[in-house]
Amino acid sequence: ESPKTVTINSKTYPVDPAWFNVSSTILNLTSRKLHLQKDHPVSITRQIIESVFPSPTYLSYNNLDPVVTAHENFDSLGFPPSHPGRAKTDTYYINSTTLLRTHTSAHEAELFTASKSPGYLISADVFRRDEIDKSHYPVFHQMEGARVWDRAAVPHGDVVSAIYKDLEALPKHDMIIEDPNPHFHPERNPLQSSHTAEEAEAVGKHLKRSLELMVAEIFKRVKESHARAGIAQSTEPLKVRWVEAYFPFTSPSWELEVWYQDEWLEILGCGVSQQHILNDAGVPSQIGWAFGIGLERIAMLLFQIPDIRLFWSTDERFLSQFTGVGDDLGKLKPFVGFSRHPACYKDVSFWLPGHSKESAAGGNDKGQREQWHENDLMEVVRDVCGDVVEDVVLMDSFTHPKTGRRSVCYRVNYRSLERTLTNEEANGLHERVKGEMVERLGVEIR
Ligand code: PHE
Repeated sequence: ESPKTVTINSKTYPVDPAWFNVSSTILNLTSRKLHLQKDHPVSITRQIIESVFPSPTYLSYNNLDPVVTAHENFDSLGFPPSHPGRAKTDTYYINSTTLLRTHTSAHEAELFTASKSPGYLISADVFRRDEIDKSHYPVFHQMEGARVWDRAAVPHGDVVSAIYKDLEALPKHDMIIEDPNPHFHPERNPLQSSHTAEEAEAVGKHLKRSLELMVAEIFKRVKESHARAGIAQSTEPLKVRWVEAYFPFTSPSWELEVWYQDEWLEILGCGVSQQHILNDAGVPSQIGWAFGIGLERIAMLLFQIPDIRLFWSTDERFLSQFTGVGDDLGKLKPFVGFSRHPACYKDVSFWLPGHSKESAAGGNDKGQREQWHENDLMEVVRDVCGDVVEDVVLMDSFTHPKTGRRSVCYRVNYRSLERTLTNEEANGLHERVKGEMVERLGVEIR
């Protein structure tokens, strides 16, 4: 069933049928590159962030190939072999060693080696098998940023003074910052053994100020845009907080959250780069930071875009609303939604695959767990229905007391962004979804 090779961005890769799980829907999206499409909200968001990290200190890399090795995406960054993100249920594989990048961090090592500047930015599409709802799409866009200092290239090897000098040169801002945790914590957020406390603290401070400036710029644009549309403004100053986090490739690590519409909104992940990455990249005398941010989430708030599927729309009623903004960010305005079409809900109940007798006898449902993953259902729905499904929600689940077999019920919401679906059309799609579920997932419809 799977092809012998696939060609992505004019490069051809050998397919391993035991690993290959990239549908043609996903393959087709690799050519879209929304982050480079002029006047597209994802591209405009990229431009706003790039404006905060100017050249020549930061150079931008926006055309890196989406196909990377498992080594680049996981191993080089210190992901353990057992990390759940590596699973075929979560990641799109071409063969056992080749995959569609799940994050822009996959390019950190190559750019630490190759970048001619002390800082770099990467924007790119990233791919994750995931659920279906208004904020999840299997392809989205991220931006990675990093900044290093060379201990061997600063006066007297005094990298700490060099970093503080750069920090002082950064602009100030007037946001309220909550940062209750110590710079590092021996268990929760450790200092790396190859860094002094002074070094890690200096890098962390430069990182935090740089990213606060980015958030300040984004929210300044949100404010201006809302004002232009006559939307009431909060008069309170912007409030952000730093939260301790964990990533295999940074330590200490943080997430930055913004207080927005009465809740804390997670904006990005970041931290002091693990020294092994810089060592392996051939630049062991360098020390620095990295961050990663999702562009759709920011674009949704900049433009008030209610559903992530809209980014992929080629409907002029969507695209024309951003014309000219790429050349003049001063024209940024909220998106005016077109009228919402009616929802059409269809349920599907089924028994999960797996040998009920064995699992009942064995006293666990390991057989079922290994064979069944919700993301496989999501993938079937996307393949059959494209963007016509708004969300898929688990309604009910139970285990038969005698056989140990598990049954689940999902509700699929058929609602196009662009037109009203007829009930016949939704029924037709739903029947095809059920057929494919039986064929591809081995479930038994009830
Ligand atoms: N790659 C991380 C993610 O996708 C974000 C990140 C980038 C965190 C760089 C730390 C440093 O969630």
